[in-house]
Amino acid sequence: MSITLTVNETDYQTDAAPDTPLLWVLRDELGLTGTKFGCGIAACGACTVHVDGQAVRSCQVRLGDLWGPVTTIEGLGGQTPLQAAWERHQVAQCGYCQSGQIMQAADLLSNNPAPTDEDIDAAMGGNLCRCGTYTAIRAAIHDAAKMGGAQ
Ligand code: FES
Ligand code: FES
Repeated sequence: MSITLTVNETDYQTDAAPDTPLLWVLRDELGLTGTKFGCGIAACGACTVHVDGQAVRSCQVRLGDLWGPVTTIEGLGGQTPLQAAWERHQVAQCGYCQSGQIMQAADLLSNNPAPTDEDIDAAMGGNLCRCGTYTAIRAAIHDAAKMGGAQ
């Protein structure tokens, strides 16, 4: 039985099994490879997307359990204040973790338009970066907050 899901405002049907992690549906079935696999156990944040507007680890969400529309890094469109701030601060190094970082930061700013350093550290603490871009991430989030937030 096929399952319908909405990703980046487009409806898709998939024959994937209901217990397939959302991450693999996005990457392998829909070709949305901006969402990355890091650990598969909710320990790195590389796979972060939004479901119904909230940041989730897509490696931990089963297709059959989806409770709302999905937004991936491709769905942000590349033009948000957050992404512009990321560019200004040259946050990305290897880039592998960055789509997850941006999706987590977008969730933070949509709930808290003027986060403190402590708020940022609390919200972003589960998103690991092997390249150590944490200081630049924090600066970019403050900058994006001044420029109008996530959207
Ligand atoms: S791949 Fe999902 S949290 Fe690491
Ligand atoms: S930029 Fe390389 S892992 Fe974060």
